[in-house]
Amino acid sequence: MKIAILGSRGRLGAALLKCWASEPDFTVRGFARPEFDLLDLASIDRALDGGESFDWVVNCAANTNVDACERQPEEARLANAVSPRRIAERCARTGARLIHISTDYVFDGRAREPYAEDAAPSPLSVYGQSKADGEFNVLSVLPTAIVARVSWVFGPEKPSFIDMLLRNALGSEKVAAIDDKWSAPTYTTDLAAWLAALIHADAPGGIYHLVNAGTCTWREYGEHALSCAAAQGLPVKTQRVEPLAMADMETFVAERPVYTVLSSARFTEVTKIVPRPWQDAVAEYLRTHPPF
Ligand SMILES: NC(=O)c1ccc[n+]([C@@H]2O[C@H](COP(=O)([O-])OP(=O)(O)OC[C@H]3O[C@@H](n4cnc5c(N)ncnc54)[C@H](OP(=O)(O)O)[C@@H]3O)[C@@H](O)[C@H]2O)c1
Repeated sequence: MKIAILGSRGRLGAALLKCWASEPDFTVRGFARPEFDLLDLASIDRALDGGESFDWVVNCAANTNVDACERQPEEARLANAVSPRRIAERCARTGARLIHISTDYVFDGRAREPYAEDAAPSPLSVYGQSKADGEFNVLSVLPTAIVARVSWVFGPEKPSFIDMLLRNALGSEKVAAIDDKWSAPTYTTDLAAWLAALIHADAPGGIYHLVNAGTCTWREYGEHALSCAAAQGLPVKTQRVEPLAMADMETFVAERPVYTVLSSARFTEVTKIVPRPWQDAVAEYLRTHPPF
C-alpha cells in the first residue's frame, strides 16, 4: 500500500513516517514544506496528482498554533479549511482514500461527559472553527474520508507539554500547570498503530476519535509524568505540580474549551481495539524516551 503523509516533519507526521517504515505492506512517502505548502494550492496538486499515485493520503499538516490562528484568521482558514478541501478533491480524482487529522477544539468544552463522534461542533476559537470547517469540507467532497480527531498529542519526534514540564522539574523545585481544563493525552506511537488498524480494516468513512483512555487536567498529566520520571531515577527536583487557572494565562489570545474528553467508541466498534489509559502511555514514553 502506498501512503502519502502530508506534514511529515510535524509531531504526528514524523511519528507516522517512522513507525510505519516497519509496517510490512506500507510504502510511505512524506511531504513537508517547501515541497508541500498548505498556503499554495498548486503544491497540493503537484504532490497528490502529479505522477506518483497513492492508495492512502494522511493529512497531518495544519496551522496548529491556536493563538497565531486567532491573530491571522485568513491564513488559518486557508491552511486548515480551504486546503483540506483541495486535498480531498485531489484524492477523489485519483481514487486515494484520505485520513484527515482534526482536533478536540472543534467543541466548546461545555459538556461534562465525553463527546461522541456525532456531537455537534461548536468551536470557540478561530483555530477550532477553521478545523471544524476543514472536517466539513473534507467530508462534503469525499464521504469516504476518515476524519480522526486527536487531543494533547505527545511523542518523541517533537517536544510537547510533558517534555517541557520535565525539563522545568529537572532544573527547578517549583513547576505549575493548568488545573481547570480537562482532556486526554494521546501518544503518537499509539496513534500510529490505531491509524494503521483503520487502514488495514479499510474502515468506513466518517469521524473517529483517537485518544488514550481517561481524563485529566494539565496539572494531573504533569504530576503523573514527574512520578514516572522519579520512579525511573531521573533527578527531578519536585513531583508536585502547582495548580494554575486558565483565567490567569495572560499569554493566551484565543479562548480555550474547558472540557474536551473524546469518546472513541466508534473506533473500538470498527477495529475492536480499546485504547490504553493515558497513564500507561505516558509511563511507556518516559521509559523508552528518557529526556537525556
Ligand atoms: N498537538 C496537539 O496537541 C494536537 C491536539 C489536537 C489536534 N491536533 C491536530 O493533529 C495534527 C498534527 O498536529 P501535530 O501535533 O503533529 O502538530 P505540529 O507538530 O505543529 O505539526 C503540524 C505540521 O504542519 C505543518 N504545516 C504548518 N503549516 C503548514 C503549511 N502552510 N504548509 C505545509 N505544512 C504546514 C508544519 O510544518 P513545519 O514543520 O514546517 O512547521 C508541521 O510539520 C493537526 O491536524 C492538529 O490540528 C494536534
